[in-house]
Amino acid sequence: TENNNLAETDVIADLLSSLPKEKSWQSGYVYRYQGFWCPEKQIPALIAFQKHFRAQKTDTILVTMPKSGTTWLKALAFSIMNRAKYTPSCSPLNSVNPHDLVPFFEFGLYANNQIPDLSTFQSPRMFATHVPYPSISDSIKNSGCRIVYLCRNPFDNFISSWHFLSKTRPEGLGPLLLEEAFDSFCNGHGGFGPFFDHVLGYWRESLERPEEVLFLTYEEMKEDINYQMKRLAEFLGCPFSLEEEADGIVEGISKLCSFSNLKDKEINKTGKSLLYFENKTLFRRGEVGDWTNYLTPEMVDRLNKIMEQKLAGSGLKF
Ligand code: A3P
Repeated sequence: TENNNLAETDVIADLLSSLPKEKSWQSGYVYRYQGFWCPEKQIPALIAFQKHFRAQKTDTILVTMPKSGTTWLKALAFSIMNRAKYTPSCSPLNSVNPHDLVPFFEFGLYANNQIPDLSTFQSPRMFATHVPYPSISDSIKNSGCRIVYLCRNPFDNFISSWHFLSKTRPEGLGPLLLEEAFDSFCNGHGGFGPFFDHVLGYWRESLERPEEVLFLTYEEMKEDINYQMKRLAEFLGCPFSLEEEADGIVEGISKLCSFSNLKDKEINKTGKSLLYFENKTLFRRGEVGDWTNYLTPEMVDRLNKIMEQKLAGSGLKF
């Protein structure tokens, strides 16, 4: 195995040296690989994931651009799927961060080129990823399993990313300038971007295969979480019964997964998830429209123009 790993390391070094790269907002580089900007560390993981992951029809894959509400979606989907097992008061979410309940392919499971033992995962299994549609494993595309995509308006997504990466990047790098990060976002260089390509890839798939790909937005969830949860439950094949609705199960889960409730859990105030950063960095404001406090009219204009151009004819609007 050691020799294999060494060989793989050489192959990856060769691959990286052949790819266009840009400075990451965090540290190191993002590489243009398979049409998107992949953070350096995730490239070996992506290769292992594409090669080894075998989807089952009963799997659910949660997909987002980073900072679009991944933590929230994981909490909700986990709670909806497991509601027969856990009432809100005895949910693992009271003591475990959502990222440790629904693992990422490219961060946790296949990180560093490792091949995880998935035999301990009971079906229906649930996984998550930030990988764009063209690059998720063929096995996912062909298995008929479910994909839930959550997107967020690009303005809030950018501001949320900027805050998060400012907080989690190595101190020695100095502050991440808003203007620089914005320029990079507009050029599509943020990790897993370009943003609009990512969103459109899943949007188109959701139009073509609505039974297999559900498209949700952060803004619609903020507006009416109970309604969106019912959509999600139905899509996941476990709709809320009238009796459950009458018993307040929908509200119970939405409250359990709410920003204010999760943010105040001890594990999310002081803990660290299996990911590399402190859990508290995952909970900032949790609102729609915070970008108005940061972006200049020129910045808004620039991003609006890009958005108009990218989304033209797609039927998708923010
Ligand atoms: P803000 O930075 O705008 O506050 P991700 O989970 O994809 O990393 O996204 C993080 C964003 O989702 C942050 O946005 C965070 O505050 C918000 N968030 C985290 N948990 C949430 C929840 N339970 N409900 C709503 N928003 C949440």
